[in-house]
Amino acid sequence: MSELESKEFWKVKKRVLTSYLIVLGFGGFLVTYIVENDRPTRIASVFKVNDVTKDWVKAPGSSFGSSHSRNTKEKMTSLEESNTSPDAYVDTQKNRLHLINNICLNKTLLKSSSLVRPKFRRVYFTTKYNFSFCKVPKIGSTFWTQVFQVLESNRGNYGEIFGRKRAEVHGTSDRLPGNVKDTSIPLIIPTRNPFSRLYSAFVDKSYLRLFPSINGVVRKLVSKTTEKRDLCLNDVSFSEFLEHVVVSARRRMTFNEHWAPVYSVCTPCDKNVTFIVKQESFATDVENALRHFWVNEDEIKVLKSVLHDHRIETSLPGIIRTVYLRTKPIRKCFTAEIMVKRIWTSFQIQGYVSNKVHFPAQNFTKSRDYENTEFVVKVLMETIMRSPLTSEESRSQRQQALAHAYKDINDTILTDIKKIYALDFKAFNYSETKPS
Ligand SMILES: *[C@@H]1O[C@H](CO)[C@@H](O)[C@H](O)[C@H]1NC(C)=O
Ligand SMILES: *[C@@H]1O[C@H](CO)[C@@H](O)[C@H](O)[C@H]1NC(C)=O
Ligand SMILES: *[C@@H]1O[C@H](CO)[C@@H](O)[C@H](O)[C@H]1NC(C)=O
Ligand SMILES: *[C@@H]1O[C@H](CO)[C@@H](O)[C@H](O)[C@H]1NC(C)=O
Ligand SMILES: *[C@@H]1O[C@H](CO)[C@@H](O)[C@H](O)[C@H]1NC(C)=O
Ligand SMILES: *[C@@H]1O[C@H](CO)[C@@H](O)[C@H](O)[C@H]1NC(C)=O
Repeated sequence: MSELESKEFWKVKKRVLTSYLIVLGFGGFLVTYIVENDRPTRIASVFKVNDVTKDWVKAPGSSFGSSHSRNTKEKMTSLEESNTSPDAYVDTQKNRLHLINNICLNKTLLKSSSLVRPKFRRVYFTTKYNFSFCKVPKIGSTFWTQVFQVLESNRGNYGEIFGRKRAEVHGTSDRLPGNVKDTSIPLIIPTRNPFSRLYSAFVDKSYLRLFPSINGVVRKLVSKTTEKRDLCLNDVSFSEFLEHVVVSARRRMTFNEHWAPVYSVCTPCDKNVTFIVKQESFATDVENALRHFWVNEDEIKVLKSVLHDHRIETSLPGIIRTVYLRTKPIRKCFTAEIMVKRIWTSFQIQGYVSNKVHFPAQNFTKSRDYENTEFVVKVLMETIMRSPLTSEESRSQRQQALAHAYKDINDTILTDIKKIYALDFKAFNYSETKPS
């Protein structure tokens, strides 16, 4: 962890402890346990501010993701958007689990796969329903934190959990009960197409500079032409980012959990995996997972309203504010103007606004306008809400952006990436064909 990141980390830890006290204060008894690096920890979930909104809005192809791409024009139904019959759905899950079991039995495959080590492993556990969840950043992890908060709180306190500003309710802390390490406990695993996960990690952490130190690390590792601590590198390419992933794997360095293979984070072959939730069918899978574990209807209802809160008009302002906050220390070289324009581009990449809508440059008459967060929120949201995309347009634009990102990635790098993520591709049935 870089200095900057670790500073942030401690800041967040402090904040988490504070929210713990607040949470206890209103009587909610939260027991969301966590295993971090396989060691018990008193901090249940350490969320950086951006997690709160960002992970949420990255659901390419999922009914959940597309629903908030739809803006206010179309009503969002989130969890109810299941178009498969219950029986067909049971088969879908069975097939997914069957595939993992086969992979786990294939010793040749497991042996030949190079395994990377992630920096963090986090598992949530609910005493009430006796199941656990493997937390993987960039795959709806913020939502799952909220799920566990709801499941473990006393009924009636939900309003307070979610009425509070999201960034303040990061989680809770408690001692880890021994049985969380019990590998027989049913486990839910989230998955996402590795190509899309890697690109999304790049856009967030490198392009939007949410990890201010990552670009120096990447450039140093890939071309050795820079100082690792150089915080002023704005233009690291996606190709360089992927190459850094390849080099890190070759040197057996630990992987940041934002792009560590899901397989390495969750080690499904050592666990009792009972449910797979795919980012690509998020809302449907979440609903079925909750019902599978007999979560009570009141709680499901509350969680639906949580999903509802993450529509485009409520989630994007949070993202904008988060990018401002997180990049403040590097504002000298990552100017507000560059930042705002990149936020705009990232919204197009994620299918929130049409590629055809121009950046509203006419609204920024003074360069100081870019520094005014709330003004930027107003201008961008006004522009975005004026030309909403349909969910199909949004999906297709996301796919286009992904294809474009991979277009010029050379085959050597691509082959290495496929090797590193081989178990994710195979165990979770994602196509290894380059996005097009
Ligand atoms: C893998 O996905 C394809 C479609 O992408 C599907 O046809 C196939 O049945 C899936 N395989 C398994 C084992 O789930
Ligand atoms: C194990 O995986 C390898 C590589 O994917 C495959 O070629 C082989 O057929 C698999 N073996 C079994 C028994 O499924
Ligand atoms: C996995 O969990 C299920 C409950 O969903 C339980 O019935 C089963 O015995 C567990 N399997 C193992 C191998 O512990
Ligand atoms: C939780 O589930 C595991 C695996 O199915 C089981 O062995 C254990 O007894 C359960 N615990 C409780 C409290 O129900
Ligand atoms: C941005 O500019 C458009 C016209 O160019 C104008 O209608 C709109 O009110 C401006 N928005 C703000 C927040 O100033
Ligand atoms: C792909 O990129 C790597 C790293 O930059 C380079 O070593 C290799 O020669 C390139 N391969 C091709 C086919 O361009």
